[in-house]
Amino acid sequence: LISFSLRCFAEFYVIDDRIGLGREFDGIGGLSGGGATSRLLINYEEPYRGQILDFLFKPNFGASLHILKVEIGGDAQTTDGTEPSHMHTKDDLNFFRGYEWWLMKEAKKRNPEIKLIGLPWAFPGWIGQGTQWPYFFPNVTANYVVSWIVGAKQHHNLDIDYVGIWNEKSFDAQYIRVLRDTLDQHNLTNVGIIAADGGWHIATVMAKDPYLNDAVEVIGVHYPGTNTVKDALWTQKKLWSSEDYSTFNNEIGAGCWARILNQNYVNGRMTSTISWNLIASYYEDLSFGGDGLMTAEEPWSGHYVVESPIWITAHTTQFAQPGWFYLQTVGNFTHGGSYVALTDLKGNLTIVIQTMTHNHSECIRPPLPQFDASPQTVTFQLKGSFAHLTELQVWYSKLDIATKNNTLLNKRSPIKVYDGSFTLKLDVDEVYTITSITTGHKGFYPEPPKPSLFPKNYSDDFTVDNPPFSEAPYFADQTGVFEYFRNVTDVGPHGFTLRQVITERPICWATDADQTISIIGDYNWTDLSVSCDVLIETPNTGGVFLAARVDQGGESIRRAKGVFYWLYANGTYKVSNDIGGQRVLAEGLSGTRAGVWYSITLHVKGYFAYGMLNGYTLWKNAVVLEPKRGWAALGALSFEHAQFDNFQVLVGS
Ligand code: GAL
Repeated sequence: LISFSLRCFAEFYVIDDRIGLGREFDGIGGLSGGGATSRLLINYEEPYRGQILDFLFKPNFGASLHILKVEIGGDAQTTDGTEPSHMHTKDDLNFFRGYEWWLMKEAKKRNPEIKLIGLPWAFPGWIGQGTQWPYFFPNVTANYVVSWIVGAKQHHNLDIDYVGIWNEKSFDAQYIRVLRDTLDQHNLTNVGIIAADGGWHIATVMAKDPYLNDAVEVIGVHYPGTNTVKDALWTQKKLWSSEDYSTFNNEIGAGCWARILNQNYVNGRMTSTISWNLIASYYEDLSFGGDGLMTAEEPWSGHYVVESPIWITAHTTQFAQPGWFYLQTVGNFTHGGSYVALTDLKGNLTIVIQTMTHNHSECIRPPLPQFDASPQTVTFQLKGSFAHLTELQVWYSKLDIATKNNTLLNKRSPIKVYDGSFTLKLDVDEVYTITSITTGHKGFYPEPPKPSLFPKNYSDDFTVDNPPFSEAPYFADQTGVFEYFRNVTDVGPHGFTLRQVITERPICWATDADQTISIIGDYNWTDLSVSCDVLIETPNTGGVFLAARVDQGGESIRRAKGVFYWLYANGTYKVSNDIGGQRVLAEGLSGTRAGVWYSITLHVKGYFAYGMLNGYTLWKNAVVLEPKRGWAALGALSFEHAQFDNFQVLVGS
């Protein structure tokens, strides 16, 4: 009875800047990479590609992100694929690979103020000089990372604002200091170091190591569960959740995002939260499908979905900018949920409220301790600089997982503030922005095209002069890097090809395969015929393959099963059920060798497969019991050069 009667009364919450401010707000961000999470985005046609980018980056339109963090490609598998390094080898330097440069420029075009961060997950093998470790030669690694920042400016006029160490791997204090010195030597004193994109441990080390402490500008932790630790607070450094979220982007994902955006400050004093990932733009059956703020995984159709996390983001990003300050008067409500208040120090005020219930706001990690949330009435009292405000704008969202009848960033009539106070009746699973800012806007484009399956008849001859991107459309590299290649020695039919270019095992982040592989198509493909012209470049020991029904990628690429048709430079062929070539379905002589182009076809139907070489059946009746379905793929036996041309897939034939 007592608790019932209490709930009939409003609880009071004071918003006041007279007691001093809280921490400076650094912004909300999205992460492209770690890895290949934007792979399919570049292949969208206009106007859809531009629309998607508007929903992500355009101020007062959609997510209106303040920060774009990208992977510094390291040629290795980093969750949903590999991203190319700007230095495949020690003497190589190329700033026109991959799509992160393009993405950063598109973000800057829309919001010149957006902050840019680069972070390596993996490094090309030469960095370790045989050790598979990036910290043995700190100068080599620091120069490599700094060259990426210098090249960003030189070739793309991009100013990188922050750089990280080694995603979720151990850090090395000496390396961090060397990196700081190397940045300074290149007049990059404005580039801040974020460390170390893992747990809070670095804060404890910083407390004992003043040089390390000096070198680090931001303590960046991952998936902190909205909490911080004493050591981190004692450093007085900026604290960021430099990677968070990673939850499927339905109502629960949106609930997770709403809760952590708010409570990462309330509970953990973190002043930036960055979503892994920015946009789910990779084949959904790869690792962590759909874990982006929105989804765009069908460039062939143009279909994309502006998912609810975009609008949850807007509740903060459109109404508070980096450089604003949190007030000290932030907190959790008595009956669940939380509120933050921010000001631009010029009299503007933004309050963001979330009332997510436990079961509708669980993130992928860490586990969320139980808590209760129930409807409640709250009264805010505005004091100090905000006492004079008489009217505030109201933006409202409600996530309704049962009916999917969500309200997202709905503009409501402004609230009248009487005597500095106003009252709200809060239900659960709601987000409110109450603000003096009047520029909020829910961006809109006409519905994009309907979803459709990957084309059943697809081919690519890789003939593109000066390709704007190094990757051929839809190919998603899972180990190694496959690039458009201009064959200067061969002006014949194979002048333009696709080439695997990594010749040494990278310093990996995940477990790359021993073979190199790029997948393409539809995970549900069962019966198909896939053809390609192939060139083994490594004499005697080299090999290439074409595959169908490849059932795994991402971090499990080593365990991929499928039907793999191999041709070797030693004059033999093999058909295996796995990428490792252990489960042999057929093998024999092929007469193949390096330096000669061959046309091969792999045909799989039901339980049977056959293979052709230069128009003749080389093997047949191989029995394929599993897997039942998967992508098509091509690749090479190891980290070796190999070329591909005239790729074609015919599904259901
Ligand atoms: C993180 C990692 C990301 C991605 C994500 C998936 O730990 O940094 O690259 O793998 O997990 O949840």
